[in-house]
Amino acid sequence: MATIKDVAKHAEVSTSTVSHVLNKTRYVSENITGRVMSAVEALHYAPSALARSLKIKNTRTLGMLVTTSVNPFFAEVVKGVERRCYEQGYNLLLCNTEGDLKRLNFNIDMLLQKQVDGLLLLSDEIAGQNLNIFARHKPVPTVVMDFAETSFPCDKIQNNSRHGGYLATRHLINNGHTKIGCISGPRNKPTAARRFDGYMQAMQEAGLEINEQWHAFGNFECEGGKLAFEQVLAAGAMPTALFVCNDMMAMGVISSAHKHGISVPEDLSIIGYDDIKLAEFITPPLTTIHQPKFNLGCIAFDTLLDKIKTQRENDLHIQLQPKLVVRSSVRSLNT
Ligand code: RIB
Repeated sequence: MATIKDVAKHAEVSTSTVSHVLNKTRYVSENITGRVMSAVEALHYAPSALARSLKIKNTRTLGMLVTTSVNPFFAEVVKGVERRCYEQGYNLLLCNTEGDLKRLNFNIDMLLQKQVDGLLLLSDEIAGQNLNIFARHKPVPTVVMDFAETSFPCDKIQNNSRHGGYLATRHLINNGHTKIGCISGPRNKPTAARRFDGYMQAMQEAGLEINEQWHAFGNFECEGGKLAFEQVLAAGAMPTALFVCNDMMAMGVISSAHKHGISVPEDLSIIGYDDIKLAEFITPPLTTIHQPKFNLGCIAFDTLLDKIKTQRENDLHIQLQPKLVVRSSVRSLNT
């Protein structure tokens, strides 16, 4: 089996140059890079990641936690992270927590034991837990995405959920709706709470009646949206519009409304949140609040890499702005 020394000899360069070419750790001219890559080809050289990490004391591996890969929101963020990992020569270990705190702790422990160079956390089960994820391990650079309450040092990248909730509700009001309800996400999730606050702010500013029978809480999944909608339905008189705090729940609401003979948007207008890829392709195409998911993943990776490389001491707090995407699930009541 060929070794790095064989490659260096074949390409007539030093072993450290071979290493820089393969790991993209320093600029190497096109000519020399070409010679090294031809030698790698000719000798069928396969570098050992383990030997490499033992030598240079980093693994070029990142750990990432997401709540659930079933929701395309998370998959679209992961896509951005993976793209940047590929471009920068990093590996990604991806774990789902599925809302289970025990599983979250297990995964963090496992990732830190594997000596990942950094962590990306997109799993807001951590929120409100006062959890010190580094209690038993040496801290590694960490970026928390989508929520901000943590009790350990980390960079944070967040969508302005309160503003998103406000934008969504304003859109319904601008279209002449006055009877507006809200299907929020889980009560303990900061993003859900902020979106609900944004809804309340827009309702209060417009002087509209807030009817608690039109408020329900789902679990950010299709099924939860359906159940929450059925709760609103069972309570009696319906609103003319609902702000549903994520697209997965909005799809559950639309499907349940259809089964109950309620047509969207003729009888009931719906606005979602996230702008997952599917939102455009359901019937009717969903009006929603766009979160820059792919960019969130790219920015999170870049922020983490910057911390790993520069070892900067301060923590960053980056806020991304939501945007309204108008499709066909909101009816205008303006004459
Ligand atoms: O769809 C999942 C939701 O959970 C997203 O809106 C995201 O912001 C997270 O809070």
